[in-house]
Amino acid sequence: MLSHILRKGVLSSNSSTLIRRYASTNGQQTVLVVLYEGGEAGKKNKNILGCVENALGLREWIKENKLDNRLKLVVTSDKQGENSLAEKTLPEASVVISQPFWPCYLDQTRIDKAKKLKLAITAGVGSDHVNLEAACKRGITVAEVSGSNVVSVAEHVVMQILALVRNFIPAYNQVVNGEWDIAKIADKAYDLENKHVGTVAAGRIGLRVLQRLKPFDVHLHYYDKFRLDKSIEKELNVTYHSSVESLAKVCDVVTINCPLHPETEHMFDKKMLSLMKKGSYIVNTARGKIMDRDALVDAIKSNHIEGYAGDVWYPQPAAKDHPWRSMPRHAMTPHYSGTTLDAQARYAAGVREILGNWLNERPQREEYLIVDKGKVVSRAYTEGDATKGHSEKK
Ligand code: NAI
Repeated sequence: MLSHILRKGVLSSNSSTLIRRYASTNGQQTVLVVLYEGGEAGKKNKNILGCVENALGLREWIKENKLDNRLKLVVTSDKQGENSLAEKTLPEASVVISQPFWPCYLDQTRIDKAKKLKLAITAGVGSDHVNLEAACKRGITVAEVSGSNVVSVAEHVVMQILALVRNFIPAYNQVVNGEWDIAKIADKAYDLENKHVGTVAAGRIGLRVLQRLKPFDVHLHYYDKFRLDKSIEKELNVTYHSSVESLAKVCDVVTINCPLHPETEHMFDKKMLSLMKKGSYIVNTARGKIMDRDALVDAIKSNHIEGYAGDVWYPQPAAKDHPWRSMPRHAMTPHYSGTTLDAQARYAAGVREILGNWLNERPQREEYLIVDKGKVVSRAYTEGDATKGHSEKK
């Protein structure tokens, strides 16, 4: 249903109206687009839309719609430090497009610099890299392409749960290293069946994780600020917890699927980790900062937590010496779960749709809006600043 709505919306943008309406406005507006470098893969594969080389299809879109004289596109991966191109472009930018995989953190200092900024678009899902409090005060609209990569992430979560519980990574490493030590792998390999698996949040991703896990015959749990319909709870046979502590205490596997905002920042601190069952696993594809970085390392090293996986770090890109890279028993990846080629096509189309609506002064889809008219309008977020303490020095 959601993907149907998404596709319908994406196909509905009317380019002739776009040209006519926009041509009547004055001046060239700068759109700063911060994306990751595509390298060889990005040059060869035009479907990697989320990289600098392919720029979310925006260059072609601007050409097709004859918007060259009206929009100045600055596309860069250079985002770290005061001398970065992103930082230098901010004072003239009306729109900043960024993505969680390579975020342009719009903290208070940067928002103060971006005097002309009207719209911050997330190419994907998750707008925690924007100081929402400052955006509210300045009347900056914050929008994301809700729903665009939720299946991609849910599949990744299931994959990483299985990788941890079945001890896949050490088994794979044995093959690569020419070893054959079955007992060593079996020592830490389990079936998922009959285990207690819980999700922190059952929004678009959390719900899809529950749905995908049901056929594994596990005991399902969830915690969320908002309860699912009774009929869905019944269909999934899922137990609701009114607090994250209650869920953490009973689960063998906890998967985190809530947005990062001041209420969820460091939700998994030393105390919360100590409440979890000894030998349990965590999969976090939500945001790195929901986890207390060092408390997790301690919990893993003391064998209280058996394994950790996910793809989100703070800040991003993760430093070469980030302790999660080298801690024992992890199955981490760089942040890519929500950027499969399928997802990229959807969120690139969504970004163009949002930009087109903005140019035309057309209303945005309600579900895409995080901050609008000075208020946080998404019920998944609280007003506040998750960029605090952000340090992204070159
Ligand atoms: P959603 O908006 O559909 O669902 C979020 C859910 O979190 C809502 O049900 C909301 O009630 C719940 N929630 C918010 N604050 C809470 C709190 N304090 N306690 C309990 N529940 C709370 O969002 P969706 O699409 O499910 O995405 C969730 C998050 O996943 C994103 O905000 C983003 O951070 C992350 N994400 C990661 C991706 C990746 O590539 N790793 C890609 C897409 C999203």
